[in-house]
Amino acid sequence: MSDPFKTWKFFVSTITFKPLDLLVFLFKTTLAIFTLASISLFFHFAFSNRSICLSSPVCNNNQQQNFVASGQAYGRTNLSHVLIGIGGSAKTWNERRRYSQLWWRPNVTRGYVWLDEKPPGSEKLPPTSPPYKISEDTSRFKYTCGYGSRSAVRMARIVKESFELGLDNVRWFVMGDDDTVFFLENLLTVLNKYDHNQMYYVGGNSESVEQDVIHSYNMAYGGGGFAVSYALAAELVKVLDGCIDRYAAFYGSDQKVQGCMSEIGIPVTKELGFHQVDIRGNPYGLLAAHPLAPLVSLHHLDYVQPIFPGMTRIESLKKLLTAYEKDPSRALQHSFCYDLKRNRSISVSWGYSVQLYPYLVTAKKLETAFSTFQSWRTWKNGPFTFNTRPVEKDPCERPLTYFLDHAESDINGDRTQTRYARHVEESDKECDRPDYGRASGVKFFGVSSAKLNPAIWSTAPRRQCCEVVNGGEGADHFVQVKIRGCRRYETVTPP
Ligand SMILES: *[C@@H]1O[C@H](CO)[C@@H](O)[C@H](O)[C@H]1NC(C)=O
Ligand SMILES: *[C@@H]1O[C@H](CO)[C@@H](O)[C@H](O)[C@H]1NC(C)=O
Ligand SMILES: *[C@@H]1O[C@H](CO)[C@@H](O)[C@H](O)[C@H]1NC(C)=O
Repeated sequence: MSDPFKTWKFFVSTITFKPLDLLVFLFKTTLAIFTLASISLFFHFAFSNRSICLSSPVCNNNQQQNFVASGQAYGRTNLSHVLIGIGGSAKTWNERRRYSQLWWRPNVTRGYVWLDEKPPGSEKLPPTSPPYKISEDTSRFKYTCGYGSRSAVRMARIVKESFELGLDNVRWFVMGDDDTVFFLENLLTVLNKYDHNQMYYVGGNSESVEQDVIHSYNMAYGGGGFAVSYALAAELVKVLDGCIDRYAAFYGSDQKVQGCMSEIGIPVTKELGFHQVDIRGNPYGLLAAHPLAPLVSLHHLDYVQPIFPGMTRIESLKKLLTAYEKDPSRALQHSFCYDLKRNRSISVSWGYSVQLYPYLVTAKKLETAFSTFQSWRTWKNGPFTFNTRPVEKDPCERPLTYFLDHAESDINGDRTQTRYARHVEESDKECDRPDYGRASGVKFFGVSSAKLNPAIWSTAPRRQCCEVVNGGEGADHFVQVKIRGCRRYETVTPP
């Protein structure tokens, strides 16, 4: 094999131009370049897990994989590249920080909660609490929205004050409220889809159409959280203060920020995992019908019922996190299967709930959220930015429901097993049809699955399939289901 350094020496010695030597030189140089190129290609394919993942939707062995795609000159975005700005106030911080403390990783997550003044008991905040900063005075700005609060001005400036800290290696500025729960692995999965060197504004709408109509469809709602790439933040900070005065009549900080985005000309890139949770009542229907996208955030949890029955809000979030931590990408993801022997339909919302129907229900229906909640402003049954179906009064038209009660993963962390226990509301009447009677013998569901590789989210989305694995006698009390990638031509189709 030709050594490129030898070729270089050869080049130096042939500088006296002999035609034959020159030809040999050209040949050797070409050979050297070709060799180098093939070596680097070999290493690319041998060590890039991405190339493996493209052929198989689930890979388990490459959590540390590098997402450097062709043409990208930077490595995978990790938590150290994200600067988080939480909008808070001194008065409510001691209550609200319980939400931040669920997901904040001391000395790992970078960022601050921005308060109007020192919070009471500031000397003895636990280490799990995000560190705080006091926002600059904003009394010089205009705020003219009659039904809102001036604090929106201070909140809108958090992205600017965060940028102006001038911290190293920040690729994304992520904004949230003091009652936003972020799911950090999934936040990174989503951010890794986008190049921080370009101008990106990533987030989600309100679930309540009335909110989107009043505030905007073009904006990333602040409570659901949004991400601003470094390149965009650099432009945003130049115009933000002016926007705050120009959009003084806007209610929220997120709307003022969007006013600026509009001036820069950057639309919101919608990601369905950001949840403003602009709903009232029971969030069950929303959570049990999550779209096919990683769960990035939940907000407004003080305004909806606890997400698990019979538990406090914080306890229920901790429960959801026990499953989430075992397989972040799979959290709340849907899978449907039929048990054709027993004529049943099973809908799994992984890490949260299972629904059992003693008859066959179309996938189209199963993927539609139950309307267990109302709109944010008017407490009506809709409309929402997604379809809902009513919870029928007739108990024979409702599924039996199960809630997560245990989650574990195997030694390697490659596979998980979650368990769901039957839940009956005291007020629920039971259906007395024989098929329901037999189904109500099922007290538990077990669900096994391989850990879902985050790389799946950069490929074309497809809901995963499932099957009942203990079809025999034991399945009267405990049904074991396996979730897996769908086979070719496999569909959820009634016979
Ligand atoms: C994050 O990426 C940087 C490179 O940009 C690297 O130096 C650092 O070790 C990574 N951190 C973690 C926690 O993986
Ligand atoms: C965070 O870092 C500080 C200073 O480096 C240290 O004193 C503190 O114990 C660390 N906290 C945790 C929870 O690791
Ligand atoms: C199975 O369920 C369908 C409706 O989903 C019903 O029409 C059919 O009669 C059921 N078959 C049996 C054997 O119970």
